[in-house]
Amino acid sequence: MKQSGQLIDKLEAESHLTKEEWIWLISDRSPETAEYLFEKSRYWQQKYYGNKVYTRGLIEFTNYCRNDCYYCGIRRSNRAARRYRLTKDQILECCHQGYELGFRTFVLQGGEDSRFSQEMLEDIVSTMKQNWPDCAVTLSLGERTYESYLGLYQAGADRYLLRHETAQEAHYKKLHPPELSLEHRKKCLFQLKEIGYQTGTGFMVGSPGQTPEQLAEDMLFIRELEPHMVGIGPFVPHHDTPFAREQGGTVELTLFLTGLLRVMMPKLLLPATTSLGTIDPRGREKGIQAGANVVMPNLSPVSVRKKYDLYDNKICTGEEAAECRGCLERRMKSIGYELVTDRGDFPGDL
Ligand code: SAM
Ligand code: FES
Repeated sequence: MKQSGQLIDKLEAESHLTKEEWIWLISDRSPETAEYLFEKSRYWQQKYYGNKVYTRGLIEFTNYCRNDCYYCGIRRSNRAARRYRLTKDQILECCHQGYELGFRTFVLQGGEDSRFSQEMLEDIVSTMKQNWPDCAVTLSLGERTYESYLGLYQAGADRYLLRHETAQEAHYKKLHPPELSLEHRKKCLFQLKEIGYQTGTGFMVGSPGQTPEQLAEDMLFIRELEPHMVGIGPFVPHHDTPFAREQGGTVELTLFLTGLLRVMMPKLLLPATTSLGTIDPRGREKGIQAGANVVMPNLSPVSVRKKYDLYDNKICTGEEAAECRGCLERRMKSIGYELVTDRGDFPGDL
């Protein structure tokens, strides 16, 4: 078996490793390997994005969900969750504020809430595009039918985020109730790409039962799908879920995987996630320094922020949008990066 450094060189040259090589590289990592990796990941980040960090305004518009994912604080069975839905006007007000603050991408994210009909969602998307034609609209609404994805795309949505969560069947079953399947999740992702969305997938790092073998499967699946974006963040336990007493994911492994993703697919849009910022006060800065190039501050009204409670101690639940933007701007500046006012599309071809 090749040494870790050689495997990183191979990944850089060929954008591909075998499953065994992935397992070796992930299991055998050391601080020295990570330093070597981050030099390369920063090289590719600089080549395509310079010191620019793209920003997306996240609007968490409903925490009602018909699903019951074992890790998630807003799962259907959590009776303690305080539920809310934003109205169309409230969503548009978030966009208005966001636009003034320099956001040119809005991400509408929520649980799978059937109270928002297809018609309502298409109306919200098309109004957003009419009001702010220079902005991109990203959706993160979970699993839907091909027709629904197509209708939303035709209404003007540009991008869609749907993490595959884990690419190994048995592990998927450990994290989800029987009515959800990896096969369907993957099918949705391929459909989104086929329709023409800039498509994002991703997974939680350190979710219960995760091993290097499963992470190897995640990397192989991402290579196969060829998404435009990949969101990874540590699993953080939520006290009212079946995984309340499980260990959370680590900063160190999240950063290492971020670096590997940048080297494997150098143009990827890679967020430094809120969950990374939750387990380490400088997590998002470290994410950028490992090769990420996107941050997603919250634009939801402060009155509902605490209720979109996916995991414990989630950060940025008390600040107004302007404060979040200012805070991130300062954080990025402190490490030599600049938050930019830009749609931040995927550059060129895949
Ligand atoms: N319902 C949509 C979906 O399924 O894609 C979007 C909302 S879902 C809450 C967004 C993401 O939150 C999930 O893809 C999952 O990876 C992440 N998430 C949920 N619970 C989490 C936890 N306990 N720790 C870290 N991330 C979590
Ligand atoms: Fe639906 Fe988490 S279970 S958003």
